[in-house]
Amino acid sequence: MITTEAWVLHAGPHSPTPGTLVRESYSFKDIADDEVLAEPIYGCWEANMAHAISRWPVDVCRQRGEERVVLGNAGVVRILRTGGAVDTVREGDLCVLVSVGIWDRYGYPLKILAYDAPGTMGVLAKRIKLHASQVYPISPDTRHALEQWAAFPIRYATAWDNWKVAYGAWRLQMDEKDGGAAHVWAWGGGVSLAELLLAKSYGCHTALIASDDKRIELCRSLGITAIDRRRFPDLSYDEKKFRADLGYRKRYMRSETTFLDLVKEHTGGAGVSIFIDNIGGPVFRATGKALARQGVITTCGWKEGTDLAISRAAECVNRHIHVYTHGARHTHEAVHYAEKHGWLAPAPEQVYAWDDVPDLVRDYADGKVSTYFPIFKVNEL
Ligand SMILES: NC(=O)c1ccc[n+]([C@@H]2O[C@H](COP(=O)([O-])OP(=O)(O)OC[C@H]3O[C@@H](n4cnc5c(N)ncnc54)[C@H](OP(=O)(O)O)[C@@H]3O)[C@@H](O)[C@H]2O)c1
Repeated sequence: MITTEAWVLHAGPHSPTPGTLVRESYSFKDIADDEVLAEPIYGCWEANMAHAISRWPVDVCRQRGEERVVLGNAGVVRILRTGGAVDTVREGDLCVLVSVGIWDRYGYPLKILAYDAPGTMGVLAKRIKLHASQVYPISPDTRHALEQWAAFPIRYATAWDNWKVAYGAWRLQMDEKDGGAAHVWAWGGGVSLAELLLAKSYGCHTALIASDDKRIELCRSLGITAIDRRRFPDLSYDEKKFRADLGYRKRYMRSETTFLDLVKEHTGGAGVSIFIDNIGGPVFRATGKALARQGVITTCGWKEGTDLAISRAAECVNRHIHVYTHGARHTHEAVHYAEKHGWLAPAPEQVYAWDDVPDLVRDYADGKVSTYFPIFKVNEL
């Protein structure tokens, strides 16, 4: 057995109440022939970690049937030891996580490492056991900081796959002779930012909606149009309230109109060609209205809940395509692209220390973290 120190999430009571991370010792079986033992250097806080702690929309401890779970599926690790059958990485290699726990027969992710994949552990531990396919070496000559690489798994890797499918879907109905470049918009988030940077590299017009000065400034510095969400503060759709509460309906409609006017203004009246919506419920109605004919709504996240109501008739008539993807199949390709083109998160202004992980959990939950890529340190380099 190997024993290490970890921030552990314990299973909660039946009607889910939010959990907390407990710092304690954690033991796991020594590595098998196809596994590696590694020490995480940096981790990146992920929305899925917050979902797991809040036990919403899924309670991962209960779903996995496990009493204790070590979260953390984005980060950079150093290989300490490899199993006898491993020839893809060596002791000392610095690697990004490939955050998949279970793949389907075609290589697409079914369950995510250190989230819903049973028996897996993440970088909120000083030592970690992984399958060899869950690590991919960073070039020893990398031009980029390890903190930037730590943010790559999950958000950038997922963005890579989602963008390829979304853009491909748009191109199924709209080609070069149909007019100018696509207008690609996104509700805020790290995946969205990574995806818009890809869209920009394809020559698309890009816009990101955000409600924080630093995020807005970041967009502008990256050449992405920033749309300030505070200009339409009541854009939070609730079907029941919309029917029953006239005051709410008026406020909502005012915000929706402001938002749709901004869409018109920034797209020359055309509407959005590809809308990245990883939020869902409260914004989905507006997303649909902002979309151009033959437009694509693309999703890999369900930040505000899992279910949506859709008018199938309207979507058919408008020839909207809905794209859904999960995780990444092509992490290796994306890593090489990132190294070559610097397609990585900006270097962080702040790195949370190992001791301060609970502060990070609290700050993130309280909406006090401006960066889309909050980094924490696990071990010294
Ligand atoms: N399936 C997968 O493989 C996969 C992979 C990665 C992420 N995800 C999921 O995708 C979702 C987004 O993750 P992320 O890491 O990109 O995002 P994130 O970094 O967690 O950021 C979320 C952003 O959403 C915006 N937001 C929150 N509530 C909103 C609302 N009601 N209306 C409009 N904007 C709102 C906020 O931006 P502003 O306040 O600045 O507007 C916030 O910064 C999460 O649920 C995550 O779990 C899934």
